[in-house]
Amino acid sequence: MNKIVIHLIAAARPNFMKVAPLYHSLRAEVWCRPMIVHTGQHYDANMSDAFFRDLRLPAPDRHLGVGSGTHAEQTAGVMVAYERLCMAEPPDGVVVVGDVNSTLACTLAAKKLCLPVMHLEAGLRSFDRTMPEEINRVVTDSLADLLWTPSPDADENLAREGIAPARIVRVGNIMIDAFEMLRSQIAATDLPSRMALIPGTYGVVTIHRPSNVDAAPVLGRIIEALRDVALRLPLAIPIHPRTRARLLDFGLMSQLENHPDIRLLPPLGYVDFMSLLMSAALVITDSGGIQEETTYLGVPCLTLRDTTERPVTVTEGTNHLTKIERLGLEVEGALSRARTVPKIAQWDGNTAARVVASLKKFFEERPVR
Ligand code: UD1
Repeated sequence: MNKIVIHLIAAARPNFMKVAPLYHSLRAEVWCRPMIVHTGQHYDANMSDAFFRDLRLPAPDRHLGVGSGTHAEQTAGVMVAYERLCMAEPPDGVVVVGDVNSTLACTLAAKKLCLPVMHLEAGLRSFDRTMPEEINRVVTDSLADLLWTPSPDADENLAREGIAPARIVRVGNIMIDAFEMLRSQIAATDLPSRMALIPGTYGVVTIHRPSNVDAAPVLGRIIEALRDVALRLPLAIPIHPRTRARLLDFGLMSQLENHPDIRLLPPLGYVDFMSLLMSAALVITDSGGIQEETTYLGVPCLTLRDTTERPVTVTEGTNHLTKIERLGLEVEGALSRARTVPKIAQWDGNTAARVVASLKKFFEERPVR
C-alpha cells in the first residue's frame, strides 16, 4: 500500500516546536510518510538550524530557500516556490502550523491545487487586524479543511466565523508536547548557572513585534523602561534579528549594552531558551508562544501588547497584558504574587497523538487520489 504523504510546513522559529512533536509521532505510523518542507522564512543558524538540532528533527526533505522581504514579497515568494513543489510532487495533505506568512502562503498555494490543508493551532484571534499574524490566521482558517484548535475560545471564534463544526477538532496545545519531550534535557542544561545567574532572581525579555520595535519613539520608551526594571532585577535579553537591526538603526543599542544589569544575548536555541525561562523570576515579552510557555511553567509573564490571541493565558494562567508606562508597577506586582502552576485542559503532552488520530480519520473517510 502506498503511504499517504504529508507535508509539514516549517518556516519560522515559532513553527519548529509545533512541527517537531507531530513529525516524531507521524514517523511512528505505518500509514503515512511525513515530509518536512522548510520555506526558508527564517534562515539564520540560531533562528532555524539550532531548533532542528534541539528538537531532533532531520534536515528538511525540501527547502524552498525563500528568505526575508516585505509581506507581499515573502508571501508571494513562498507561494510560487511551494506551488512549484506541489505540482512536481503533489502530497496527499499539507499541515500548516501557527500564523506566520509561510502558513498563509502554503495554504493558498495548496488549496488552489485542491490539496487538503490542515491547520494546527487554528482559531486563535487577537481581533487586531493591524497584526500581520491576525490576517494570516483568518485567511488560513477560512480555507483549511481541518482546523485543529488548542482551546475552547478558538472553537468559539471559528464558529462565529461560520466554520462548520465538522471541520473543527480540539486537540490541545502542541507546544507542551515539545517541552515535555525535552524536559529532562532542558533541566540538565542549566543555562542560568552557566551564565552566573541565580535561579528565581532574574528576568527574561523578548521583544520583536513590529508594533514594538519598528518605530524609534516606541522602542526608545521600551528600552528606557527596561533600564529601570534592570535596577530592580537583572535582565537577560536574547535579541531577535529584527530588533537588533532596529536598535542599530535608531542608535539605541548602546543603552542596553552599557547597563551593568542587562545581559544581551544572541537568539537562543530551544533547549537553552527554555532552561533560561524555567528559572526566571518573570518574563517580559511580546511573543505569542512565550505567553503559553510561562503559564505552563508557572512563571509570571508581562506581555507588552494591547491584545492577546491566547486569552486562556490571562484568564487561567500567569499572563498580564501591560503598557510600557505601567511596566515598573507590573513588575512589582508580578514579583510579589504567590506563584502557582496553572493546570489547563489538554496542555498535557498528548496533543500530537490527538492530531495523528484526527489526521488518520480524515484520510480514512475520504478517498485518496
Ligand atoms: C516572524 C513572524 C512572527 C513570529 C516571528 C518569530 C510573520 C508575519 N511574522 O516575524 O509571527 O512571531 O517570526 O521570530 O510571519 N531575519 C534574519 N534572520 C532570520 C530571520 C529574519 O536576519 O533568520 C531578519 C530579517 O531582517 C527579516 C526580519 O528579521 O527581514 C524579520 O523576519 P520575518 O521572518 O519577516 O519576520 P519576524 O519579525 O521574524
